[in-house]
Amino acid sequence: MNAIQIHRFGSPEVLEWNSLPDEQPKPFEVAVRIQMAALNPKDALVRKGKFTLFTGKKFPQRLGHDFAGEVVATGSQVKDLSIGDKVFGMINSWKAGAYADRIVVPAQEIARMPSTMSFEQGAAIPLAALTALQALRDLGKLSPGQSVFIHGASGGVGTFAVQIAKLLGATVTATSSSANHALLRELGADEVLDYAHDDLFKDKGRYAVFFDVFGNQSLQKTAPILQKKALYISTIPSLSIVQQVFTTYFSSKKVKLVVVKSNRTDLDWLAQQFEAGKLRAIIDQVFPIEQVAEAHRALETKRTKGKILLQIPPAQN
Ligand SMILES: NC(=O)c1ccc[n+]([C@@H]2O[C@H](COP(=O)([O-])OP(=O)(O)OC[C@H]3O[C@@H](n4cnc5c(N)ncnc54)[C@H](OP(=O)(O)O)[C@@H]3O)[C@@H](O)[C@H]2O)c1
Repeated sequence: MNAIQIHRFGSPEVLEWNSLPDEQPKPFEVAVRIQMAALNPKDALVRKGKFTLFTGKKFPQRLGHDFAGEVVATGSQVKDLSIGDKVFGMINSWKAGAYADRIVVPAQEIARMPSTMSFEQGAAIPLAALTALQALRDLGKLSPGQSVFIHGASGGVGTFAVQIAKLLGATVTATSSSANHALLRELGADEVLDYAHDDLFKDKGRYAVFFDVFGNQSLQKTAPILQKKALYISTIPSLSIVQQVFTTYFSSKKVKLVVVKSNRTDLDWLAQQFEAGKLRAIIDQVFPIEQVAEAHRALETKRTKGKILLQIPPAQN
C-alpha cells in the first residue's frame, strides 16, 4: 500500500507519498481500498506538530480521517459488511491514515454508501457533517422553531451545519463573506450576514444556540443576542473553552465544546439524508495526491468553500 507520511513536523513539503506493507484487519475491523480522502483543518495542525499531546512525537506519522472507498478485507467478527461494499467514514484514532490507498478501520466507524453517493461526496461528508450533527442535535438539542446562529457557515462544518439545522426545523442565521451568501441561501439559511461588515449582534435575546464554527467569538460577546437559557457551542478545544464548559455548567447560558466521534448510527443518518436529497457536500477542489502540499496550502487559507478532497490513485504494490 501507499500512504502520505510525515517524518518531521513542518510546512506542507513534509508530506511524502511512501510505500508501506499492507495492514490486515483484526476481528472487528475492515480494510478499505480508498478512492477519495478529504482534508480537515485538524490535518494541517497535526502536520505542524500542534497536537503532539494526542499524536505523540514519534515518526513517521500518518494523516487524514475522512475517506470513501471499497471494502477489500473483513475481520472474522464483521458480519454486516462484505468485500466489495462501498463505504464512507471517519477514523477516530489519532493514528489517522486516510491519505492512503488502503486503511484498516473499526467497522463501526464506517457505513455503507447509498448507491447514489459518489466517492467525492462520501469522503467529504463524514468528519464535517458529524461535527455539525453532534453539535446541533446532541449538544444544542435544537428543536423546530428555535433560532440558531451559525458563524463561519461557508466552510466544511458550516455548510453542513446550515443544512442540518434546517433538517432539525430551526430558523438559521448564518455568516460568511458576501461572496458566499448565495450558497448559504441555497443551502437553506433564512438570513445571511457578512462577518466582516454586518452587525452580528443586532437581534437581542433571539438565539437558542450560537454555533461558533470559525471559533473567534465567545459567550461573553454573544450573550446579548442569546435567549435567557441558551448555548454557545465552540469547535475549538482550547484550555479557555474547556474551562468555560465547567464554569458555566450550572449557568442559564452555557458553553459547550463539540468533540466529533464517528459512529455507524450517525453515518447512516447522514446517508439517509443524502439519499433523500436533503443533504450534500459542497466540494471546493479535488487535488491529485501528488498535489497534497498545494491542497494543504489551500486549506490553510481558511477560505475553503465546503471541502477539499484528495484523489487517491490505484495501489501499485
Ligand atoms: N472539535 C471538533 O470536533 C471539530 C471538528 C471539526 C472541525 N473543528 C474545527 O472547526 C473549525 C472549522 O472547521 P471547518 O472544517 O469548517 O474549517 P474550514 O472549512 O477551513 O473553514 C473555512 C471557512 O471559514 C470562514 N472564515 C474565514 N475567516 C472567517 C472569519 N473571520 N469569521 C467567520 N468565518 C470565517 C471562511 O468563510 P469565507 O470564505 O466566506 O470568508 C471559510 O468558508 C476549525 O478550527 C476546525 O479545526 C473542530
